[in-house]
Amino acid sequence: MIELRDLRDEDEAILFQWRSEPEVDRWMSDAELPSREAHAAWFNALRTDPDLRGWMITRAGAPMGLITLSGLSSHHRRASLHWFLGSAEARGRGVGRAAQVLGLDLAFGELGLHKVFAEVMADNDAALKAQSAAGFRREGYLRGHVLKGGEARDVVLLGILASEWAELREGARRALSDANLIAA
Ligand SMILES: CC(C)(COP(=O)(O)OP(=O)(O)OC[C@H]1O[C@@H](n2cnc3c(N)ncnc32)[C@H](O)[C@@H]1OP(=O)(O)O)[C@@H](O)C(=O)NCCC(=O)NCCS
Repeated sequence: MIELRDLRDEDEAILFQWRSEPEVDRWMSDAELPSREAHAAWFNALRTDPDLRGWMITRAGAPMGLITLSGLSSHHRRASLHWFLGSAEARGRGVGRAAQVLGLDLAFGELGLHKVFAEVMADNDAALKAQSAAGFRREGYLRGHVLKGGEARDVVLLGILASEWAELREGARRALSDANLIAA
């Protein structure tokens, strides 16, 4: 089963290792890999800053990746979603699709958000498919929006509203529980 759980002290090291993987880094908009110190400060902020939340994505209890929401203190009640599966063997097996649904459930349920949005590089097929399958709609196409390794990359802006999630939630959860990806 795929689950999301709160961060623990021991997650800091594996997250640093995952963030440095080329297959993860290539889709991140940061110009450079974070230093160990910057990573530790960011990890601490994920657990203490009211503007941020992060959860480990687990499969059968084992950590597979991370999902975060930022901008939580905005009065607009919207947040930006970031995520990755650091474990290469976890990718392409539906873990990402399930993590999106669980993340949106937290965002619109426990956190009471009005909107969740994401900026995804235009050639990131796996992220675009997983997020579209969870109900994100395409809201914009930002040309040359990100400079990565000196190259200008296009970005797709995705968003989903609480009202849309309320319509989709039951079907999305049922499809995943029927596939034994999440608990019923
Ligand atoms: C993006 C990511 C989280 C998606 O999770 P995932 O578990 O690999 O995705 P899923 O297995 O749930 O698949 C989602 C869809 O993408 C497709 N897909 C998966 N890997 C793919 C790939 N490498 N290329 C093209 N399509 C792919 C799947 O077939 C599925 O489509 P379908 O529902 O039409 O069959 C994961 O691939 C990842 O961590 N990538 C690196 C970091 C990253 O890109 N983070 C997101 C930044 S916005």
